[in-house]
Amino acid sequence: MNLNIYVFFSALIVILGVLLNYVSSAGAPHIIIILADDLGWNDVGFHGSDQIPTPNIDALAYNGVILNSHYVQPTCTPSRAALLTGKYPMRLGLQGKPFPPGQPATLPSAKLMSDYLKELGYSTRLVGKWHLGYTRWNDTPTYRGFDHHFGYLNGFTSYYDYLTTWTHRGVTYTGFDLRRDRDPAWEYQGQYATDVFTQEALTIIQAHDANIPLFLYVSHLAVHAGNEGKLLEAPQETINNFRYIADSNRRTYAAMVSKLDDSVGAIVETLEQKGMLQNSVIVFLSDNGAPTMGMFSNWGSNYPLRGIKDTLFEGGIRSASFVWSPLIVQNARVSNELIHITDWLPTFYSAAGGDISAIDPDLDGLDQWSSLVYDLPSPRADILLNIDEKDRNAALRFNNWKLIVGPPSLQSNDGYFGESGKNVQRLITYNTSAIAYSPAGRSIAKVSFTPVLEPDYSILRDQATLRCLPEKGKRSSCDPSSGAVCLYDIPSDPCEENNLAQYFPTIVRRMKRALVEYRSGLTPQLNQDLDIEKDDPKLFQYTWNPWVDCVDVTCSA
Ligand SMILES: *[C@@H]1O[C@H](CO)[C@@H](O)[C@H](O)[C@H]1NC(C)=O
Repeated sequence: MNLNIYVFFSALIVILGVLLNYVSSAGAPHIIIILADDLGWNDVGFHGSDQIPTPNIDALAYNGVILNSHYVQPTCTPSRAALLTGKYPMRLGLQGKPFPPGQPATLPSAKLMSDYLKELGYSTRLVGKWHLGYTRWNDTPTYRGFDHHFGYLNGFTSYYDYLTTWTHRGVTYTGFDLRRDRDPAWEYQGQYATDVFTQEALTIIQAHDANIPLFLYVSHLAVHAGNEGKLLEAPQETINNFRYIADSNRRTYAAMVSKLDDSVGAIVETLEQKGMLQNSVIVFLSDNGAPTMGMFSNWGSNYPLRGIKDTLFEGGIRSASFVWSPLIVQNARVSNELIHITDWLPTFYSAAGGDISAIDPDLDGLDQWSSLVYDLPSPRADILLNIDEKDRNAALRFNNWKLIVGPPSLQSNDGYFGESGKNVQRLITYNTSAIAYSPAGRSIAKVSFTPVLEPDYSILRDQATLRCLPEKGKRSSCDPSSGAVCLYDIPSDPCEENNLAQYFPTIVRRMKRALVEYRSGLTPQLNQDLDIEKDDPKLFQYTWNPWVDCVDVTCSA
């Protein structure tokens, strides 16, 4: 295109965008985070797998911006801390293991996303998982910026009876973990968690005064494994839709993902019915990659990426993610720009009309709002992926490069796992009309002048699908647990199969220096010995409960 015409059209698009923003800005936008737990890279339709249809998720993704270089932390507690604080977990002492029940460490005092948005007039609601400590009531969501919390305090619970079990020094502790604010919510026992949390989100939206901006953080149990003994749970009628999946665990997992997709559709549909959708920003992400094997295995797949949850390979920390909003001018695209989970705090603050210069200057997150809205380059050149001083591993992304050193906590997790979902048996094909006809697809069409349809679905899907190096490019995959320093060019080698460290010694030196510099800001891990005898659910009417500031067994004082 002629440059002048190009400039003219770009200017026109920006002006139209500003106008559109103006027209639709009845007020600060509603902000909805839908956080999946342990969802695999390959377990959403928009990344190329046919195996588990996710028409609602795909409808939003294709009409929004697919964030294909969205990094998170390798496990739950660190990712959730990064999301709410806008800081790298290693600066908070949260770079290590997620909190088990009875862990006395908690999220340190810091101004959270919920506090910032509350200050800007938002109604702030958390539905689902907290997992940032509950030693004292002051550590729980309603004392950390959320008006209300309906959900659980630990890292997992069972999908129907909300029991969380932990074994410590040979003793097994089991307690109920579902609360409405401070009160145990026993009456939900027997109802499926994904439905219960969805219904709660819908009730909040329906009862909401649309003139007040809403911050709704839906932190699903799906698709984390449930409690000991019955790890994977889904309604039988949903499982029956996946008869074409041979492995019975994978079949149940598919049903769990499908229920998560229904949840996304119902939330979008309700926002539309309430007239809130055109002024909403919806972010979907997973806190980390799927644990395809190991302790809380859920049979999720990070194909074709290397590694799983709790590793610093791409399979552990690259999140299936997108942002959708009518406020985004340049949507229906795949972005490969760097974005980190810490970026959402300043990004939302900016989208909400907050003065970004008034925000804590010590944040690691960067405001990505105008990059997302106008398709501008990311403000990020690097992401500290983690430094864990106990496991002695670290990784850094710098432009296209990724440096990774030290062993994952379980060395056997650094290979390739999980199904391709590529329909080898031709039992199912990707149904693009199901996307447009899904509740999310129909709702989007009501608030968008130009909803995306075929063939654009397929074009975007193709762009969002990662491909490993051809066979002859796979020279040295490198094993950081052997002490080697591994360097990858991620855009061309997303599967981390070709170590380039020996060819780029200057890059390696520079990135190691950057890691050393980051290391100087590290807070030692807060994790302590468990206080689980004092937090024994037997002492609290068989619930998991704050235990330090409780003056009686009901702990309501
Ligand atoms: C595709 O989805 C549409 C809309 O939900 C449905 O009517 C149709 O039967 C589906 N096609 C196949 C082959 O499953």
